Amino acid sequence: MDRTGIFAGDDPFVIAREWLDEATKSEINDPNAMALATVDQDGLPNVRMVLLKEISADAFWFYTNYQSAKGRELEHSGRAALVLHWKSLRRQLRIRGNVTREDGAAADAYFASRSLKSRLGAWASHQSQPLESRGALMARVAKITAQKGTNPPRPDFWGGFRLEPVEMEFWADGAFRLHDRFVWRREGPENEWEIQRLNP
Ligand SMILES: Cc1cc2nc3c(=O)[nH]c(=O)nc-3n(C[C@H](O)[C@H](O)[C@H](O)COP(=O)(O)O)c2cc1C
Repeated sequence: MDRTGIFAGDDPFVIAREWLDEATKSEINDPNAMALATVDQDGLPNVRMVLLKEISADAFWFYTNYQSAKGRELEHSGRAALVLHWKSLRRQLRIRGNVTREDGAAADAYFASRSLKSRLGAWASHQSQPLESRGALMARVAKITAQKGTNPPRPDFWGGFRLEPVEMEFWADGAFRLHDRFVWRREGPENEWEIQRLNP
């Protein structure tokens, strides 16, 4: 297959890391911002931005509140899709797969690495629930700060998710809208990837 340059290599996680590294140099902010798509219990799609925090050997990791709308949707369906769009590179990376909760040592370590204000904010926010006023949230932050002090533990309602892809598609802008697209597909982590070029 004529797959060279920015598409070279057989491990899609390696290519994803290379593209993210490039975007980190060229994007004006948040090169790791990605849209996370879920479906609710009625099958109605939902989408919002989250930050990609790690690309490990077989998964994409992000962090959130487990009781948020996305947290509930992810727990219910066990599936999600992601898309990263880098305007500066004119490239897109699409990812679909199975999602599992990551609420062990890795989540503790990531929580501990966040600023104190962010850690207290995670405690104070009942993410996706109605909020009567900004003042009510600030009052909760003050209360939590007094209760938890300067080293709050990770709340058990907040942590990571890992998405293990069964499909990853790399897209790069080409002349005359003749873009390059390559898709990697596999049944599960134990299977080999099948790689195909797609029509733009
Ligand atoms: C660039 C960007 C990055 C974001 N990153 C996160 C994130 O990593 N985790 C998170 O819970 N929310 C993040 N948010 C907020 C979410 O988009 C969303 O508003 C919030 O998580 C509630 O979504 P939900 O009600 O569907 O659960 C981010 C928003 C933006 C615009």
